[in-house]
Amino acid sequence: MDGLRRRWDERYRGRAAAPEPAAVLRHFAHLVPTTGSALDLACGLGGNALWLAERGLEVCAWDLSAVAIERLRAAAAERPRIAVAAEVRDLIAHPPAPHSFDLICVVRFLDRGLAPKIAAALRPGGLLFYETFTREEAGGDGPSDPAFRLAPNELLELFGGLVVRGYREEGRLAVPASALGNLALMVAEKAL
Ligand SMILES: C[S@@+](CC[C@H](N)C(=O)[O-])C[C@H]1O[C@@H](n2cnc3c(N)ncnc32)[C@H](O)[C@@H]1O
Repeated sequence: MDGLRRRWDERYRGRAAAPEPAAVLRHFAHLVPTTGSALDLACGLGGNALWLAERGLEVCAWDLSAVAIERLRAAAAERPRIAVAAEVRDLIAHPPAPHSFDLICVVRFLDRGLAPKIAAALRPGGLLFYETFTREEAGGDGPSDPAFRLAPNELLELFGGLVVRGYREEGRLAVPASALGNLALMVAEKAL
């Protein structure tokens, strides 16, 4: 885990600002609530955490990289109106507790063993916004190891206990300019 942490720290040292909100938040923005508690899981520099907090949610943002978390704290401190609790946390060793969030956002992070714990961490009626790389149309962005990319429809299977409210996995049919060809986007709700 230390080697992984060092690699991510190194990457984030070379990056300045938090990225724009992810496609799953932009495309399904109308489904994002404006109150409640949210977790940006494996948040990196926290572009999604900041966006969710700007919408009115109380946001926890967790990541392995201390460099990323320090940057996110600084970015959040520049926006006094918002609430982001950023924390260095190994999510495999310390997953979120059951029934603890109204919304969980996972972007470009995939650990299949964590999926049941993510679903369990949603409160009844809670929403999962998930976006990560697929194997189809691989190339360009994302991990080169196919183990870290989704098989077709895999996100639907991993979270089969939730009700799907929004889904896009366009693969080779995607319009090139959309940059969606190598991504799966899902919004899913935990039953009340
Ligand atoms: C591709 S980045 C995505 C970051 C962010 N979600 C985004 O979209 O900008 C993957 C992130 O997962 C984090 N990560 C990897 N393994 C982790 C673990 N076991 N616990 C917490 N974070 C982890 C890395 O530090 C890195 O920030």
